[in-house]
Amino acid sequence: MSVNERALAGRRAIVTGASAGIGEAIARALAAAGASVVINARRADRLAAVAEQIASRGGRVACVSGDAGDDSVVAAMLDTCRAEFGGQADLVIVNAGRGLRGSVYDSDPSQWEAVFRVNVLAAAKLMRAASERMIGVATPQVGAPPAAKPPEVPGDWPATARDIMVLGSTVGRNLSPFSSMYGSAKAAVHMLAESLRRTCGPRGVRVTTIEPGIVASEFQSVAGYDPVSFGAFMKSIDPVLTPEDVARVVLLVASQPAGVHLNEVMMRPTRQEYP
Ligand SMILES: NC(=O)c1ccc[n+]([C@@H]2O[C@H](COP(=O)([O-])OP(=O)(O)OC[C@H]3O[C@@H](n4cnc5c(N)ncnc54)[C@H](OP(=O)(O)O)[C@@H]3O)[C@@H](O)[C@H]2O)c1
Repeated sequence: MSVNERALAGRRAIVTGASAGIGEAIARALAAAGASVVINARRADRLAAVAEQIASRGGRVACVSGDAGDDSVVAAMLDTCRAEFGGQADLVIVNAGRGLRGSVYDSDPSQWEAVFRVNVLAAAKLMRAASERMIGVATPQVGAPPAAKPPEVPGDWPATARDIMVLGSTVGRNLSPFSSMYGSAKAAVHMLAESLRRTCGPRGVRVTTIEPGIVASEFQSVAGYDPVSFGAFMKSIDPVLTPEDVARVVLLVASQPAGVHLNEVMMRPTRQEYP
């Protein structure tokens, strides 16, 4: 058994956007490493096929199909984890997202709401709901003053790690010549994650941003990049990252001892200079 397998056996995970690309690779890797995994995406047939493959290799998996921005889907993911795997999720991968070609000037404004809804609002909803359940407190009062006493950690701390990992992007840190409108959504989710880290870290929950550069997936066609010019750019920095490369990093972060937190991981293809 590898280090990762020992560290992840018994963990209960949720992965959004697991019907393709990075989320699918993360779900497969977590299940192979011994975690039980709830997977989500809108395409129910694709999700079921991923689940079937995971199960055929002995993995424990359950599906919740639907839009990750719907409140009912957020609740269903957390409830399904508890019902199917016997406890609250302790490893939540906020991955569902999509790109958009262009800047505020030349991107398609009819796509703006969808981009911010999935990359920012859906992410924030799951981050909030998952952290509430991990910390085990009732919904905090809006605008409540900071508590006077030190935050409580779960009774099994530090035997058990709890993680919320959010897929950010290099283009949320650096201005992208390809997709600055999308990048501004990722910049927002980086801030949300850092804010949640400051709340949750003292309570024993790690909140990490994973910030990849170019990863070959369905992302490029969904974003609307020109296959010829963007394909040539990808070729020029060959090899670009694979979803499995990102999954390996997720396992690395999750398998650290509970008292060790990799806050932010930026990863690029070695030959990608920018963004
Ligand atoms: N590829 C890259 O170069 C790159 C770089 C940095 C960061 N990222 C980020 O990494 C994450 C995964 O991207 P990817 O490369 O794996 O893209 P992908 O291959 O297009 O996969 C995106 C996944 O998200 C799901 N999804 C999209 N909208 C959803 C929604 N509203 N509700 C639920 N699921 C939804 C899609 O499934 P359905 O269509 O079935 O819903 C799919 O499973 C995204 O957050 C992306 O922004 C990607």
